[in-house]
Amino acid sequence: MEKILDVREMVPKERHPMIFNTFKGLGPGEYFILVNDHEPKPLLYQFQNEHDGEFDWWPLEQGPQVWRVAIAKRTVKDPNRTVTEYLQTDHRRLDAIMERYQDAYKGGRWDDASKGFREFNLGLRRHIQIEEEILFPAFEEKTGMRDAGPTFVMRMEHTEIKGLLERILNATDSKNASQITESTHALINILGDHNMKEEHILYPESDGIFSDYERVQVVKKAQAL
Ligand SMILES: [Fe+2]
Ligand SMILES: [Fe+2]
Repeated sequence: MEKILDVREMVPKERHPMIFNTFKGLGPGEYFILVNDHEPKPLLYQFQNEHDGEFDWWPLEQGPQVWRVAIAKRTVKDPNRTVTEYLQTDHRRLDAIMERYQDAYKGGRWDDASKGFREFNLGLRRHIQIEEEILFPAFEEKTGMRDAGPTFVMRMEHTEIKGLLERILNATDSKNASQITESTHALINILGDHNMKEEHILYPESDGIFSDYERVQVVKKAQAL
């Protein structure tokens, strides 16, 4: 069962202590889902200050009425994070959401399918945004490679991936199982290959050319995007 902490009915001054106690109670690798009625940015900054290198922060829903974020305790506490470890963890997390989504629509559980795909869609679009707005520009700046380098290819694949996300979202809303099967198959194929190239080439190369400080800044900016 997923741990859920809904603080919407709590008085504001009790919210943060409750959230940090819940986090302290997590075992390594565990997470809880925070449900809130506003964007919890100040909370993220407090986590970055007080639990540096100890947590992951994965938004699942971003308004306009409800904000949900999965707050995870990392298996290791290490403030010197790498781009590879951080973005690879996000790939695996998204793979797991995709699997739950597929189980849901195949089982005809359309409410779960809809919720699951919305989490996947938000998560993958954010992931792509992190790459295109934070990681790739830093990589291009350092290497001088723009129009012919690896980021150019990755950006083209992102466009294709976003097109498939749109199609799956529409197919999910219209409960069109055969269209979902066809588009998720295409998405999983392109994503498997795309993620592999990032994890084996682009991310390790980025870690190799960034300083310790620059690597950590990529992660902090990504969490706050
Ligand atoms: Fe990517
Ligand atoms: Fe990626």
